[in-house]
Amino acid sequence: MSDVVYPNHLGIIMDGNGRWAKERGLNRSAGHKAGADNLINLLDYIYKNTSIKVVSLYAFSTENFKREKSEVDYLMKLFVTLFNSKLESIKKNDVKVVFSGRRENLPKSVIDSMDKITNDTKNNTKGILNICLNYGGDCEIVDMTKKIAKQVLDGSLNIEDITKEVVSRNLYQDLPPLDFVIRTSGEKRISNFMIYQSSYTEYDFPDTYFPDYDIKCLEKSLDCYRKRNRRFGNA
Ligand code: IPE
Ligand code: IPE
Ligand code: MG
Repeated sequence: MSDVVYPNHLGIIMDGNGRWAKERGLNRSAGHKAGADNLINLLDYIYKNTSIKVVSLYAFSTENFKREKSEVDYLMKLFVTLFNSKLESIKKNDVKVVFSGRRENLPKSVIDSMDKITNDTKNNTKGILNICLNYGGDCEIVDMTKKIAKQVLDGSLNIEDITKEVVSRNLYQDLPPLDFVIRTSGEKRISNFMIYQSSYTEYDFPDTYFPDYDIKCLEKSLDCYRKRNRRFGNA
């Protein structure tokens, strides 16, 4: 494991649950359930078998509230089950769970389960799981700008002292830049995912729908990352 290069910060845009279900004549909820079961396996594998330190998961975008109420309600219930019990392996793997996104508009049951898992894992040190829920990259930049503007107005920050580090500290979470993002289902866009943190991110867009994106698929994506020549502007 130590000789193999892994991204330090991996992002996963878990897409294709609905199409996976449709192909099987199932409702979209069944696709989300299958996606969640797959996610638990992938995370367990990542934190046990790789040196990836931070995983950012796109669980629900600010735009996903446009979906039918029944689908949104199902997803919210799924989040509660995940955070209250299904993510138990995360705790065993010494992973700290944090959230990115706006808390407003989320049901109280979801907020309570988010607060519980955050608190239960706050002293864990081996890895970080950043769950993007009611998250939009554009909203994150707006919210960061407001936080910084308030500090300038109350005199605790000088305009000249605004640096990249200050910006990063005022995002939802102060995380290292994203090295690699995988978006399943074949869509080649980022749909408002961590736009500030992805200035030099490498991408993989496998065709597989998320419920079928297993450990073998993940290893294939990671192999593809290893072949990239990351230049960061160098000649
Ligand atoms: C991703 O799968 C899960 C969420 C956005 C919550 P989708 O539900 O977007 O599945 P498709 O893209 O419709 O197949
Ligand atoms: C992005 O997927 C959001 C998540 C995976 C949570 P969407 O399915 O919502 O994105 P679009 O609408 O295809 O761009
Ligand atoms: Mg989708």
